[in-house]
Amino acid sequence: MLPTIECRDDAIVMIDQRKLPAAEVYVTCKTAPEVAKAIKTMVIRGAPAIGVAAAMGIALGMRRSKATGTRQFTTEFQKTCDLMAATRPTAVNLFWAIDRMKRAFADAAQGGGSVAEIAQRLEAEARRIHDEDVESCRSLGAHGAALVPESARILTHCNAGALATAGYGTALGVIRAAAAQGKRVAVLADETRPFLQGARLTAWELVRDGIDTTVITDNMAGAMMRLGSVDLVVVGADRIAANGDVANKVGTYSVAVLAKAHGIPFYVAAPISTVDLDTADGDRIPIEERSDREVTHVGASRLTPEGARVRNPAFDVTPAQYVTAIITERGIARPPYAESLAQLVGSRQPAVGSLS
Ligand code: MRU
Repeated sequence: MLPTIECRDDAIVMIDQRKLPAAEVYVTCKTAPEVAKAIKTMVIRGAPAIGVAAAMGIALGMRRSKATGTRQFTTEFQKTCDLMAATRPTAVNLFWAIDRMKRAFADAAQGGGSVAEIAQRLEAEARRIHDEDVESCRSLGAHGAALVPESARILTHCNAGALATAGYGTALGVIRAAAAQGKRVAVLADETRPFLQGARLTAWELVRDGIDTTVITDNMAGAMMRLGSVDLVVVGADRIAANGDVANKVGTYSVAVLAKAHGIPFYVAAPISTVDLDTADGDRIPIEERSDREVTHVGASRLTPEGARVRNPAFDVTPAQYVTAIITERGIARPPYAESLAQLVGSRQPAVGSLS
């Protein structure tokens, strides 16, 4: 399996997603601020992956703490959590993972644990978050594969693969599971301007897996649908509001509207950690604006004239009405999402089949 992120010799090692596919290089983070910087600068990206990275970064920071008493240790812990929370605003998995680390800290501290014991508890929690994410991807992949016909041409946007998670992927988890079942799948990967997650990362992952992959520019999706070349769409998500509105990589909304216009199913694959019942609808999801340079340049080459203004919202919101179903590790939610998502979030046991 692809090593997106792992703990090695008192450090966290991540594959540098900015460099793929031209170079397979790894970044080693020895401190929590280094992990925060890696998240902010997209060394590691993708909603579940940044949650895992934040948890591992917090555990690393606290293991390296020189605090002698729990009071100082608590202050440092809070600062480290704040540092991670300030990296990227849209993916709720980041805040979900930080909350889990806070609960683990509180449990260990309330039990009268020493600094060393709390640090150990945090490490164990970060490891659990990592391992559970892989498990979730495999389960949601299995649920989602049931929605894929024996032969399917699948369009995806951005990268919701092993690189965007602790392993296996969400949207690509569904595709991988369908392929593993012997279904004939061919993927159309949107290139995903401006960071090119589709052209660089999704295509890299799928080609490595031997899955039939065709890269298209983002503006070709409609033409492909009109030509009858797309059977279904599956994408990941950064945050799913209580009413089923979905924030995902900018461009997802256009794909969803096009899919509806062509009668093509539009599926969202995401772990329950991406569902945010505290956010009522998509209008309340904070959308990250990234630097102009991502739009004005490709590598070192400038594309746009000096003086032209630029917008770079990294995500958009797809209203729930365009979403055919939401695939999670606990089962498949269908409209009305206010009910089906609340039921899945509330359920502890993996659900079998669909909720509607
Ligand atoms: O800016 P990115 O690359 O972090 O955005 C990633 C996406 O939008 C993914 O589709 C989403 O996080 C789901 S990843 C399983």
